[in-house]
Amino acid sequence: MAKRQKRFEVLAERPINKDGFIKEWVDVGLVAMESPNDPKPSIRIENGVVVELDGKRREDFDMIDYAIADYCIDKRVAEEAMAIDSLKFARMLVDINVPRKELVRLSVGMTPAKLVAVLRELNVVELMMAMQKMRSRKPPMNQAHVTNVKDCAPLLAADAAEAGYRGFAEIETTVGIARYAPMNALALLVGGQVGRPGTLSQCAVEEAAELNMGMRGFTAYAETVSVYGTEQVFIDGDDTPWSKFFLASAYASRGLKMRYTSGTGSEVLMGYAERKSMLYLEIRCIMVTKGAGVQGLQNGSISCIGVPGAVPAGIRAVLAENLATVLMDLEVASGNDQTFTHSIERNTARMLMQFLPGTDFIFSGYAAEPNYDNMFAGSTHDCDDYDDYLVLQRDLQVDGGLKPVTEEGVIAVRNKAARALQAVFEELGLPAITDDEVERATYAHGSKEMGDRNVNEDLRAIDDFMKRGTTGLDVVRALAKRGFPDVAASVLEMQKAKVAGDYLQTSAVFDENFNVISAINHPNDYEGPGTGYRLTGERWEMLKNIPRAIDASQI
Ligand code: 5AD
Ligand code: CA
Repeated sequence: MAKRQKRFEVLAERPINKDGFIKEWVDVGLVAMESPNDPKPSIRIENGVVVELDGKRREDFDMIDYAIADYCIDKRVAEEAMAIDSLKFARMLVDINVPRKELVRLSVGMTPAKLVAVLRELNVVELMMAMQKMRSRKPPMNQAHVTNVKDCAPLLAADAAEAGYRGFAEIETTVGIARYAPMNALALLVGGQVGRPGTLSQCAVEEAAELNMGMRGFTAYAETVSVYGTEQVFIDGDDTPWSKFFLASAYASRGLKMRYTSGTGSEVLMGYAERKSMLYLEIRCIMVTKGAGVQGLQNGSISCIGVPGAVPAGIRAVLAENLATVLMDLEVASGNDQTFTHSIERNTARMLMQFLPGTDFIFSGYAAEPNYDNMFAGSTHDCDDYDDYLVLQRDLQVDGGLKPVTEEGVIAVRNKAARALQAVFEELGLPAITDDEVERATYAHGSKEMGDRNVNEDLRAIDDFMKRGTTGLDVVRALAKRGFPDVAASVLEMQKAKVAGDYLQTSAVFDENFNVISAINHPNDYEGPGTGYRLTGERWEMLKNIPRAIDASQI
């Protein structure tokens, strides 16, 4: 090799140069926002039926086209909306004089190609301006992953409690070993309510098992119901838009909050991108979601982030897909939930796209555990980044959904959660959580500090516990009997919420008094400076007071 220039040698060793990049490759769909094969916007409606969608006649529709044409597009406004010049609509999105309501009235009448044409006109700052105005719920919030490699329940309960206490509105778990799912769900249910009453919890596993846990009251919502932008990817997964619609209805029938999941890059990874752009295909997913009557969507590439991350303007496309979700008047849980880069700088820059404008859930999975314990394959930020994140909120006066905490406070809720779960296990006949486990879970950084549970014994007990028909009410009884009346009351409230159904509204979460905060009673009313969500008053006092800041009055 030729003599190296020393600076290039140093650069080659930088973390960013461990990342993978690829030039646009249209034939396999490796193109972010604009493929020559993306259709041109068009719609034709006859007798209330869409007979042409983006240049395709109805007789040539695939399953996704039917779902979009018949269930998503608002035919009352479609012709009006499609007639608006795309650049003009893009300008309306960033114009503080055009309110969200008027924009949504029109955007739900647009076709996928039309929405792409609009989004292509916006640079990232304009996309953020539009997000600030268009997200559904007024206060932005956050979601956490709560997992560990050992599926260790007392640690899950402690981590769930800490996550709720730090301010996450939603917490989700998944499993190392599939059969652990009900125990993990139980740990989050109990721990989450200890950390902050009203914390919504879920357990992402195979669809039937997940639905079963929801119906029993072990979880409060579901999220990883995947939809895709090309027919062949659905077929490969033995699914159709209709099977997903059915599943959504099953959740709704029991009063369980749910959203779908999709994201740029999945069709490329599955090998069926039809040579279209990632953004165009993702907008089809968003519109299938809207058509299902589902209130929200987790998107922003999610587990496929390496794909848009590798192509030019890929991270811009990810923000554009988040914006497209709120343009369909849906809740958005906006990604930032999987590692995609070795570079800390790039990682933060990608996150700011959602953090600065605020979304319904800025992260749809901030790791509430160390990276090695994240069973969703590692998130962009984890428990070791908490203080960095709190400082970003403070520096920029931006509400990222987390609040400063004290070490004593965290120790207290972690300990209480582990003890509450210990009592529940004993009452429900699950293998004991020892006092040593409670102690370790209270003070642990991660599962390396935990002993190994007897996995076979746990799994046998879980199967038996499920066969006995245990439900959320049994958990309430156990907590009440064993001296945790407040936690029992919170778990009971979570069950009652499903009967009331108020938290099925768009972007709904609970505050710690179990009031629903949603796009219905807290609609985003941003209309420029002086309006919308402002980080001020009590909340700003709380967020700016990180414990480490020097207080002159105390010197
Ligand atoms: N498209 C569709 N579903 C996705 N998931 C993650 N990323 C995507 C995507 N881009 C879903 C999958 C996965 C879960 C964590 O989220 O169902 O199992
Ligand atoms: Ca998630």
